[in-house]
Amino acid sequence: EGKMKLAPHPKLPKGKKIMLIILDGWGEQIPDEFNAIHRAETPIMDYLKTTAPEKWRLLKAHGSAVGLPTEEDMGNSEVGHNALGAGRIFKQGASLVDSALETGAIFEGSGFKYLKEALPNGTLHLIGLLSDGGVHSRFDQLQLLLKGSAKQGFKKIRVHVLTDGRDVADGSSVKYVQMLEDTLEELRGEGCDARIASGGGRMKVTMDRYENDWNVVKNGWYAHVLGEAPHRFTSCLEALKKLKEEDPSVNDQYYPPFVMVDESGKPVGPIVDGDAVVTFNYRADRMVMLAKALDDEQFDKFDRVRCPKIKYAGMLLYDADLKLPRNYLVSPPEFTETSGEYLVHNGVKSWVCSETVKFGHVTFVWNGNRSGQFSNTLEKYVEIPSDQGISFDKQPEMKAIAIASKAAEALRSGEWDQVRVNIANGDMIGHTGNLEATILGCTTTDKAIKIMLDATEEVGGIFVITADHGNAEDMVKRNAKTGAPIKDKQGNYQILTSHTCAPVPIAIGGPGLPKGVRFRTDLPNAGLANVASTFINLHGFEAPHDYEPTLIEVVD
Ligand code: 3PG
Ligand code: CO
Repeated sequence: EGKMKLAPHPKLPKGKKIMLIILDGWGEQIPDEFNAIHRAETPIMDYLKTTAPEKWRLLKAHGSAVGLPTEEDMGNSEVGHNALGAGRIFKQGASLVDSALETGAIFEGSGFKYLKEALPNGTLHLIGLLSDGGVHSRFDQLQLLLKGSAKQGFKKIRVHVLTDGRDVADGSSVKYVQMLEDTLEELRGEGCDARIASGGGRMKVTMDRYENDWNVVKNGWYAHVLGEAPHRFTSCLEALKKLKEEDPSVNDQYYPPFVMVDESGKPVGPIVDGDAVVTFNYRADRMVMLAKALDDEQFDKFDRVRCPKIKYAGMLLYDADLKLPRNYLVSPPEFTETSGEYLVHNGVKSWVCSETVKFGHVTFVWNGNRSGQFSNTLEKYVEIPSDQGISFDKQPEMKAIAIASKAAEALRSGEWDQVRVNIANGDMIGHTGNLEATILGCTTTDKAIKIMLDATEEVGGIFVITADHGNAEDMVKRNAKTGAPIKDKQGNYQILTSHTCAPVPIAIGGPGLPKGVRFRTDLPNAGLANVASTFINLHGFEAPHDYEPTLIEVVD
């Protein structure tokens, strides 16, 4: 208890009302025609940037600043919200799995030993996102896991692939499937019966999050576990080709579920009693739902029809509160004493909200991948249901205005010290690759910000606006050296659906911001992990000693 009490800040008063706004996928980039934020009508964000230079700055949101292996790694919502909420930089899943594979420790740990209980007869199934986007998983890690598992004695391996097109270019699934087929052929040459067994696009099959749509996971259960899907092919490359011919509007993110069958039409790799299963994504949010279906005997979100007795391990522990899954190959970063926990121990009351598709980002991920709350009286988490069953470019307003209105109401109620929201539009629409829709989404975002800043003004509060990583500010593939947009062979610009390595803005202000508060100038390399100390100060407390330094100073 006592050790989480924070000292009062020597200059900043307690009791301020703070509106903390996280824009998802909102970076700072060259203001050209591919920058949806620049193209959008954003009077509020423009005003903040240009009128108070000592209260606006950029933060690093990618690479080592958020615990990713290299500076080439773009930011993402998990590492971004982890850093924002925890106030420190932790080596992330991607890095931890890299080390475990490099040293071989992954095969010595209790998780892999558990899988080996399926030997000598059990098949090993590997389920996950097939790309090298580095957000949820990486191809090179899958490859090392495959080879190592064969060495460890698995004679039969089945891979269940989810095609990407969201963290990597649409259409690249063919390349990754070919790379996987090459690896599997190599393994077969060494006497391991290794094949692809099922698949589908990540947004249609398996990788839903925050219980937005259980049907997505059900599709995956049927394809991966039961070996049943509306589409059956003898090879995965054929599946991708034929499905696209049948419906040209289908893309990597949205391939329907399919299974691989042999010449007699029998599925080559359903999951059966005695098998071992690994979900090889290290990132939690989009594996939690399948992990529950695989790990939880009481599971009742859909009828699993057949529930094989398996040895299941996640690549990582996905939920530290639920201890889900029970077995895992690599221990996750240890996020302890995150800002949410400090606020609760110091009597600061938080009201937190987003729409379904990002709800867990400002709650679960913010709190260090824990599904619970630190307090039921000092915290309130409010979820606004996302639009169902549509691609967000068809509904680019999403729920931004509803979130903002609720947040404004929460701040006005006077009941809450911190009102924290995630506005999803820049990211979710950015991922569709639809530039015009993304522009509309960014315009809506600015309108939502206005609603929240008006409320802040009214109650004499403080606002902090930042973002978790870039996305909407760059919608085209660029030449890495020159920055020039790249065209494909047909002369069309290559659409960028993924995040970016851009820095993100942070702005502070509002009538409650004490006079003399401004951004320090001695932290040019500050990143998302510096934000927690900053808002803890604005709540009137000294930041914990092990947190990254605050971004602000108070001049007399
Ligand atoms: C996703 O899961 O939607 C993308 O891979 C990453 O997007 P996010 O990091 O913004 O959630
Ligand atoms: Co995103």
